[in-house]
Amino acid sequence: MLRTRIVGTGQYLPPRILTNADLEKLTDTTDEWIQQRTGIKQRHVADPGVGSSDLGAEAAKRALANAGISPDQVELIICSTMTSDYLFPSAACLIQDKIGAKRAAAYDLNAACSGFVYAVTMADALIRSGVHKTILVVGADIMTNRLSWEKRDTAVLFGDGAGAAVLQGEEGERGVLSTYLGADGASYDLLYLPAGGSKHVICCENIDNLDLGIVMSGRELFKKAVAAFCDAAENVLRATGMTIDDVDLFVPHQANTRIIFSVAERLGLPREKIFVNIDRTANTVAATIPIALDDAVQQGRLKAGDRVLLVAFGAGLTWGSVMMRW
Ligand SMILES: CC(C)(COP(=O)(O)OP(=O)(O)OC[C@H]1O[C@@H](n2cnc3c(N)ncnc32)[C@H](O)[C@@H]1OP(=O)(O)O)[C@@H](O)C(=O)NCCC(=O)NCCS
Repeated sequence: MLRTRIVGTGQYLPPRILTNADLEKLTDTTDEWIQQRTGIKQRHVADPGVGSSDLGAEAAKRALANAGISPDQVELIICSTMTSDYLFPSAACLIQDKIGAKRAAAYDLNAACSGFVYAVTMADALIRSGVHKTILVVGADIMTNRLSWEKRDTAVLFGDGAGAAVLQGEEGERGVLSTYLGADGASYDLLYLPAGGSKHVICCENIDNLDLGIVMSGRELFKKAVAAFCDAAENVLRATGMTIDDVDLFVPHQANTRIIFSVAERLGLPREKIFVNIDRTANTVAATIPIALDDAVQQGRLKAGDRVLLVAFGAGLTWGSVMMRW
């Protein structure tokens, strides 16, 4: 049976680090509050003039090198991002050029923090149906230049970064076993950026009337996130005939350790099976899961045959899960 397997991962975090202590100087917050409420200790920040495709291309080069695949073998690049360099063209096209993947088609997919899970689901369908053999999935986002530092609710949560995975078809038991996606557009306004899209264009005439910051209802999102994470996890477990005890490593979207541990408690997952790296990266949107997978590989926490559960939730609202055998 043909399955879609991740054959290489890579990540890139911009070198500049903003610690919680640095944030104390920018907004009314404390290191203690941030760590207790979110688990975050620091975040990486891209320099002005750097685009999400710059981070994504570096992560992609590392994933290809780790997979032992040359750029001209890549047939499709899907970049999950909600902060593309330009409104158009896509970051995926810019990445295609930067890594020299001349034969690859390329497009962006915006499912916010669920983007990587959505993109892996698309790639899995395209590989198993025989449309493509080798697909590069990138998650890349730069959020720090969208934050208003004085809005402390959102200022403390996000960081910049990119992760990438190379996916190929392979006969056997290893690879993607099941995927599940969900969305709830009625709740779009729990987390959104009102200005800069087609509805409220930023231009000289209206700049004084626009709210340029991110709008977020933190508490409401928290509750929705826990419910959606559990729903997504339970759906792929059911589809694969597994129970939570069969999961070797749980790699959740890194939005908040309290969300992650509430979900784990509800699902009955012990802490040693949960991968958490939010302390050093904060929430890097579509990049959190591929960065976490790459960290897990580097730390030797993933071995061939392990059952890995990916679960994500984000603006949209969107959510989803992937069960795979590593
Ligand atoms: C944002 C979030 C961390 C806030 O944590 P919380 O425990 O819900 O905190 P609350 O909003 O209830 O606020 C508690 C208090 O802390 C204060 N506070 C909020 N942000 C603060 C900050 N950065 N620093 C210090 N104090 C802060 C509030 O003003 C409030 O004070 P009050 O009790 O005097 O009114 C949390 O709701 C969350 O993580 N939500 C999900 C957000 C998310 O993940 N978004 C991305 C989705 S992919």
